[in-house]
Amino acid sequence: MHRAKARERGKPKVSGAALRDEGKQTEEQAERHCGIKGSINYGRNGVKTRIIGTGSCLPGTVVTNDDLSKVMDTSDEWISSRTGIRERHLVKEETTASMSVEAAKRAMKDAGVTAEEIDLIILGTVSADFVTPACACEVQAAIGATNAVAFDINAACAGFMFALNIANAYIQAGIYRTALILGAETLSKIVDWEDRSTCVLFGDGAGAAVVRGDEQYGLLAFDQGSDGTKGDVLACPGRTNNNPLIQTDQRLGFVHMDGQEVYKFAVTTVPASLQKTIETAGLMPKDIDYFALHQANIRILQSVSKRLHIGEDKFPISLDHCGNISAASVPILLDEMNRKGLLKPGMKVALSGFGGGLTWASAVLEW
Ligand code: UT7
Repeated sequence: MHRAKARERGKPKVSGAALRDEGKQTEEQAERHCGIKGSINYGRNGVKTRIIGTGSCLPGTVVTNDDLSKVMDTSDEWISSRTGIRERHLVKEETTASMSVEAAKRAMKDAGVTAEEIDLIILGTVSADFVTPACACEVQAAIGATNAVAFDINAACAGFMFALNIANAYIQAGIYRTALILGAETLSKIVDWEDRSTCVLFGDGAGAAVVRGDEQYGLLAFDQGSDGTKGDVLACPGRTNNNPLIQTDQRLGFVHMDGQEVYKFAVTTVPASLQKTIETAGLMPKDIDYFALHQANIRILQSVSKRLHIGEDKFPISLDHCGNISAASVPILLDEMNRKGLLKPGMKVALSGFGGGLTWASAVLEW
């Protein structure tokens, strides 16, 4: 879609029942997360940060739940009933950078923006191909964005949302005008394929958006937070100390997650953060046309919809065919909504990302 068109437009186990009754003990925590610091309302200086183009890229190989059940002790019934996930895309030749480049090109085409016009590239990822250079720098080189400053950020599943808010801060400050923001992951290389409780959940892919200052539509409000005290509930170790003083047996770690703790965090903090952001934007939940949330588990989306008293039809889904792609989930979902023609100019859209760190971020924008 061209810009002109775009502008138109490890803890104790609990039972499943206990999980459905989830979150009660973390209500207080959610209140602490989202009830004290106010969300920030944007656009008062006359310029709003607007998404003017989207793009995404999924690797070519689709792996269904049945495919997984042939190589590990799992089943389509368990995965789809617990999560809503039916299949995911996994890389073979693709890399985090190659998928990012493709998503970036598609977003630039959709926005009608040339590489030279991009001032800033921010890429959220926990699975870049290199420690250095940043994946954002690889994207910059590949698309020829010679005028851009480029860097990666690690905010796990909230990475794209954090990137959006950083770009917004630069645009609001008048430092940069046009930014390319991305969420991109090759999670299949950091999950433990011998841990069936996590590996079935994740997928690979990249999503991108071009954002620019706009006088009419754009970001209305934002809320974000972190709780490092809960970092161990969703973690992936990096390299351990190793030097001539301490010679260790270097072993790379893999993702491990206490799913129920993350679940409880998500179903309390996310609705509280969304509620706060919507209020800051001067709106009510019923005024929101779509809720485009991080795609971790359909039960989380259903719980948020219930807590906000909003029908599930306002919560579009991509997790059924993508699985959880951490930082890439929100931009891929947005791009799918954009390409389906669901998004019209001025529509109110709420976004939210949440996950490792712990981190979370919500936004309300006019499309
Ligand atoms: O992106 C960051 C945000 N992430 C999230 O939001 C994830 C949030 N958490 C969740 O979505 C859920 O906690 C999960 C989907 C990860 C797990 O659901 P659960 O209802 O909490 O399942 P569980 O971990 O309690 O496992 C229940 C049973 C266990 O068997 P026993 O001990 O009851 O006999 C597991 O061993 O299911 C078993 N199990 C599996 N069985 C078949 C675990 N994984 C599998 C599997 N296939 N893949």
